Amino acid sequence: MDRYELAGELAREAGRLAHTAFGTSATKSKGVHDVVTEMDRAVERHIRSAIAKAFPGDAIIGEEEGGGDGHRLWLIDPIDGTANYARGIPHYCVSIGYLERGVPTVGAIFDPSHDGLYVAERGRGAFLNGARMAVSPCDDLATATVECGWSTRRPAADYIALVDRVLAAGGAIRRVGSGALGLADVAAGRSEGYAELHINAWDCAAGIVLVREAGGFTNDFFAGEGVARGNPLIATNAALCAKLADVVGIPIPG
Ligand code: IPD
Ligand code: CA
Repeated sequence: MDRYELAGELAREAGRLAHTAFGTSATKSKGVHDVVTEMDRAVERHIRSAIAKAFPGDAIIGEEEGGGDGHRLWLIDPIDGTANYARGIPHYCVSIGYLERGVPTVGAIFDPSHDGLYVAERGRGAFLNGARMAVSPCDDLATATVECGWSTRRPAADYIALVDRVLAAGGAIRRVGSGALGLADVAAGRSEGYAELHINAWDCAAGIVLVREAGGFTNDFFAGEGVARGNPLIATNAALCAKLADVVGIPIPG
């Protein structure tokens, strides 16, 4: 089994494990509006041990246990949308990304509430349950929907300014609480953009591969210290790339 196949199978298996305690797993606080459940930790352990068994030389960084960088690097979010998961809101996922020498190469996201497996490999396209995905053809911000991710890692005033700028440009706003699924929505053409002023690499590594392989664009998220410390993120289609980048203030290479 290669890394692409492993990522897809493991995301589905781990998502089914997570779903056994959907809305019921014991919760602890990691910070302001930042929770972790017992299942986040159990799912991460499961994914880590499967990767370590199949590819013992690969590096792994996960949201709950951390880890170190490497030329062959897995970025794991055992449960993205943990606040939704803990409250029984069916909008969360398992996200598994893989970078080869810093290049986002494989992405797999499983949405257990809808039995949706999103997979992509660099150069091979992006698929939802086997059907090829393509980003939205929309070319007008005034008819676009943009998800603006939020966390307490950036000041509230900066988030309000971001939302204000997107609204002033005519866009509609969403914020549904899973960066990974927000990117999957862009890849599937269900929304036109995703923007967040700071997001961590495990939240978005898989989604970046999905968006790019579905014909979309993202900024160079892994530049600088993106892997270790996170970065701003913007993802959209070709037609809106320059306009949304200008509105959000994050450059996207065209
Ligand atoms: C968070 C979600 C949220 C995003 C935050 C993430 P978590 O991850 O993806 O949508 O806006 O930046 O930290 O805490 O649910 O794993
Ligand atoms: Ca996350």
